[in-house]
Amino acid sequence: MRSAFLFGTAALTASAFASPIIKRDNDPSGPGGSGHGAGDHGNHGGHGGNDFQDFSPSLPDDFPNPSQDQIDDIQDRAHGTLPNSPLPTGLSDDGITNFKLIAFNEIFEVAFFFELVQNITHNVEGYQFGEDKDQVLENLNVILAVEELHALGANAILQANHVDAIKPCKYNFPVSDFESAIALAATFTDVVLGTLQDVNDIFAQNTENGPVRLISSVIGNEGQQEGLFRIIQKKTTPAQPFLTTSTRDFAFTAIQGFVVPDSCPNIDTIPLNTFKPLNVLTQNIEPKDQKIEFSFNLSEVDVDVESLSLVLINAQNKPIVEKLEDIEVKDGIVTFQADFPFEDFLLYGLTIAAVTHSAESFDSADDVAKQTVFGPGLIEVS
Ligand SMILES: *[C@@H]1O[C@H](CO)[C@@H](O)[C@H](O)[C@H]1NC(C)=O
Ligand SMILES: *[C@@H]1O[C@H](CO)[C@@H](O)[C@H](O)[C@H]1NC(C)=O
Repeated sequence: MRSAFLFGTAALTASAFASPIIKRDNDPSGPGGSGHGAGDHGNHGGHGGNDFQDFSPSLPDDFPNPSQDQIDDIQDRAHGTLPNSPLPTGLSDDGITNFKLIAFNEIFEVAFFFELVQNITHNVEGYQFGEDKDQVLENLNVILAVEELHALGANAILQANHVDAIKPCKYNFPVSDFESAIALAATFTDVVLGTLQDVNDIFAQNTENGPVRLISSVIGNEGQQEGLFRIIQKKTTPAQPFLTTSTRDFAFTAIQGFVVPDSCPNIDTIPLNTFKPLNVLTQNIEPKDQKIEFSFNLSEVDVDVESLSLVLINAQNKPIVEKLEDIEVKDGIVTFQADFPFEDFLLYGLTIAAVTHSAESFDSADDVAKQTVFGPGLIEVS
């Protein structure tokens, strides 16, 4: 079994790794998880003895400013070096914004995977494995180091263009077990896979090809990671033939859902739009036609709810426009349902939902983002 994770078939790997062996509090061999002693998200209940509060789950390797020795070590763990060819300089404002968003995202990913590795390493409740532990950590440690290099690389490009590096925020992840952590990783990685399409498209529009090869290499890497997350979730590794596209504003908003409010030292230097949140209330969405329930908070938003549309973005297809149905408003919170036309469009992989100003149709995800009021709601069929 030892090599199953690396060399086994998907099925073998999935059965070996899909679920950690959950040890309960009264199991003397398994320390229960505790709240984050030092973190800012310490409102998750603590249980019993632990070694979790002995570390401070923030960022590894003196991030975001590792020493050269630390960078050498990160490169060893990432199985490769930072690019040693000259960094792209003279970038357009849009090109700079691309790298600000990438840095903002990659630092968030470093925080996430560091915390996930720590949770597994320290046997936090919900993250306890039996003999599979080393094999799970082997992959996640490579992913962590890879994300560290992606973040360092993006910030290095900003600095080469005489722009301040993006600084880390404090984060709060809405997960407390391995399965939900991997499902979250799969979802935000899919958003990245869609958003880097937008980034390359923007470089192309500005006829600055310099970074496109580099970004494309990162898209492939993130796709490799997504394959692992899908195997762990017992899904087929290819999600869909043409991955769902996204836009910078959707990604920028989605990442802020995991950020402790007002904890980002220089997020205000990223000139992108932040939408009001759209919540997907329906859980465990199956691959079939159905109604999906959503909610948003109408406070401080001046729109006529009856005039809004629900738009679904999937694959490389024209956005799908649906009506808001069964609208209910209670204490400023709007709940509604909308059709999820799975069969007609084969809505596999990521679907991005947005509530927009009314429209008959949209030509592209960019057009949707321009009209979005609430979003993105992130849907992954199970
Ligand atoms: C790590 O575990 C803690 C305690 O359950 C949880 O609050 C946190 O969200 C987990 N982080 C990740 C990335 O799984
Ligand atoms: C809705 O938004 C308002 C204003 O931002 C806030 O005060 C209120 O607590 C929110 N309601 C819920 C249920 O989150």
